[in-house]
Amino acid sequence: MNEDAKHERFQIITPPYRIKVVELLSRQQMEIADNRERRSQAIKKAGYNTFLLKEDEVYIDFLTDSGTNAMSDNQWAGMMLGDEAYAGSRNFYNLDKAVQDIYGYRYLVPTHQGRAAEHIMSQLLIKPGSFIPNNMYFTTRRVHQELAGATWVDVSIDEAHDPESWHPFKGNVDLKKLESLIGEVGVEKIPYMSIEANVNMAGGQPFSMENLVALREMCNGYGIPVMLDGTRLVENAHFIQRREAGYQSRSVREIVREVCSYTDGVTVSGKKDALVNIGGFLACNDKDLFLEAKAMVVVYEGLHTYGGMSGRDMEAMARGLYEMVQDRHVAARVNQVEYLGHLLLEAGVPVVVPVGGHAVFLDAKRFLPHIPQEQYPSQALSAALYLESGVRGMERGVVSSGRDPVTGEERRPKLELVRLAIPRRGYTHTDMDFVAQAIIKVYETRDRVRGLKMVYETERLRFFQARFRPIGGQLIS
Ligand code: F0G
Repeated sequence: MNEDAKHERFQIITPPYRIKVVELLSRQQMEIADNRERRSQAIKKAGYNTFLLKEDEVYIDFLTDSGTNAMSDNQWAGMMLGDEAYAGSRNFYNLDKAVQDIYGYRYLVPTHQGRAAEHIMSQLLIKPGSFIPNNMYFTTRRVHQELAGATWVDVSIDEAHDPESWHPFKGNVDLKKLESLIGEVGVEKIPYMSIEANVNMAGGQPFSMENLVALREMCNGYGIPVMLDGTRLVENAHFIQRREAGYQSRSVREIVREVCSYTDGVTVSGKKDALVNIGGFLACNDKDLFLEAKAMVVVYEGLHTYGGMSGRDMEAMARGLYEMVQDRHVAARVNQVEYLGHLLLEAGVPVVVPVGGHAVFLDAKRFLPHIPQEQYPSQALSAALYLESGVRGMERGVVSSGRDPVTGEERRPKLELVRLAIPRRGYTHTDMDFVAQAIIKVYETRDRVRGLKMVYETERLRFFQARFRPIGGQLIS
């Protein structure tokens, strides 16, 4: 295994497409790009939370790579073939076949997006008092585990929490931590092991096949099923292909298939890898779980042959699944993210390394060392970047981490980050150059950025709607 991702040399990889249609920015967006006063008013009105900005107030939108993908001509053509029958839509059968071809799971339950699949899986598998080991957390996955009565437990390797570690597989599970959890609470309290591909909150970091195989063996020994969050599995597979011995000549498609073969089921947000704007699913090999999930999806989502998606959405996703596993597509997609990361690293800006698959993460602890965690440094940094440039990123630190459901105390994660997530196929390298310049400018004047006070929050997933005020009145003094 290449232990040192640091020595990978950066080289441009061009994408396997040409641009045929473009989305014009609105007049308001162009004004926002040119007018700092407008941006200042907008971010103040949004309570210094980039989630509360209107799209017309955003110039370059790196809030998320979720549902912001540009679809291909092939997918758009498929949209015209949407069969909107309530029951038995032919697009459902196309999707069913695509999921079997690409992932290899026997049974599919479509949902309108990823968190609906997480809800169903959590409600079906978790009993109150359970413990769910995870390689870090994702916000929605954890909240559904907790709503079902489980305690979320982190069993990721220590390096996952270290933004400066160049470990090539920071998404790996620490098997010793898992073993000690099993020893502590007993195997009967662990309904499944939850493992996320290309861990979002760690910075878009992959697990290795070697680690997954070892995990599978350990879980087999205890009879614990392994449930995957396959939302960004394709990007994880790309890193395995690049960094893990024995996989260089294997295709991303083959690697995706092999990963799934070591797991019992998956929840997927189709809004990422699958190159669509909406959609998701749960898939598994266990017939009983499938039948229960199928019975449940009709209560919350819609009939089991559409699960909250229209026929055309299912067709676009079925086609996207075949496009997403093309080696050159994934390589160019990750390469564009790495290009932005590379520009920032060259300029000495603190970012999470290795640069991840879907986003560049600024390390707010090192970027704004003068702002303590209780003054929400990542929130302040994402607001400051918007104010200076019209570029929208998002907080991934203490605000996203929320409060402990038992004690009500704020969770203080080691990682205090701003995520700049890059939509697939939507932006050019010129946009990356612009964003890098904007970040470097904020970095050069970082001492002037002030901390925030939270003035409103919701009980769950507070980062979406929380509001803030700059301490001392001005975000940038
Ligand atoms: N799992 C992961 C790893 C995710 O990143 C997301 C969504 C979900 C599940 C939930 O899927 O949004 O379709 O309901 N992540 C988005 C993001 C919101 O911006 O990272 P969903």
